[in-house]
Amino acid sequence: MPNSSDSLDLYAKVEDLLGVKEAAPGLYAHYLLFLNTQDFDSLLDVGCGSGDFLRQIQGALGISQVKGIDLSPFMVAQTLEQGYDAECIDLCDLDGTYDVITAVFDMVNYLNKEQLASFLSCVKDHLNEGGVFLCDINTLFGFENVAVGSFIVDDEDRFLAVDSDFENGEYISEFTLFEKGEHCFKKSQETIRQYYHTVDEIVKLSGFSLLQHDQVHLYELEESDKRFMVLQKI
Ligand SMILES: C[S@@+](CC[C@H](N)C(=O)[O-])C[C@H]1O[C@@H](n2cnc3c(N)ncnc32)[C@H](O)[C@@H]1O
Repeated sequence: MPNSSDSLDLYAKVEDLLGVKEAAPGLYAHYLLFLNTQDFDSLLDVGCGSGDFLRQIQGALGISQVKGIDLSPFMVAQTLEQGYDAECIDLCDLDGTYDVITAVFDMVNYLNKEQLASFLSCVKDHLNEGGVFLCDINTLFGFENVAVGSFIVDDEDRFLAVDSDFENGEYISEFTLFEKGEHCFKKSQETIRQYYHTVDEIVKLSGFSLLQHDQVHLYELEESDKRFMVLQKI
């Protein structure tokens, strides 16, 4: 079942409570290290979130043309606020081609197997000849050991509870949010689904060649929790 824009928007409203922003620079470093060695003019970030990756990459590399897309209107609004070109659109419906396409911090895990096949075919359509696709995926260890369990957090205006479980390759996170209104708290509940994929599956489905494949230890545990990979359109 696809993640709805309502569920992606609820995640967008609480991402700052989840520790994601603190962990992200360690992951972005893998992308930056690779892109620093490349000569390219255009980059599309799919699942750009609030635009933090675009800000870091532009700050470091000053690329001529960068754009972000995301299916959460709330995320797109934040990327636009940061001053970057961004659109709430599915990759397959977008015009234009790019030298580099990125899908950073779990974006590919948001796709089930069927969506993944169609997504990779659209990545191919939107890459220039010889262009590269960079992404990261959660390992089985990451899903089973980092991401499951219950989590409660609050600040002055929000109370959030997240219950997550991983079973049969599917990671299900139930988000319950209470937001302070003028006279009462407003409750919203949404589910975010992620799906386990392997590097081999992505290579086979894309038909691209695998240029690089790193183990990522984002949370400094004994095993790697993510894989970072670079694929080239051939
Ligand atoms: C964990 S966030 C990462 C955001 C950002 N890349 C970062 O590094 O901060 C995953 C993002 O992917 C977006 N997303 C999920 N499925 C998507 C899809 N099919 N197309 C575009 N964006 C998607 C979500 O709305 C969310 O903003």
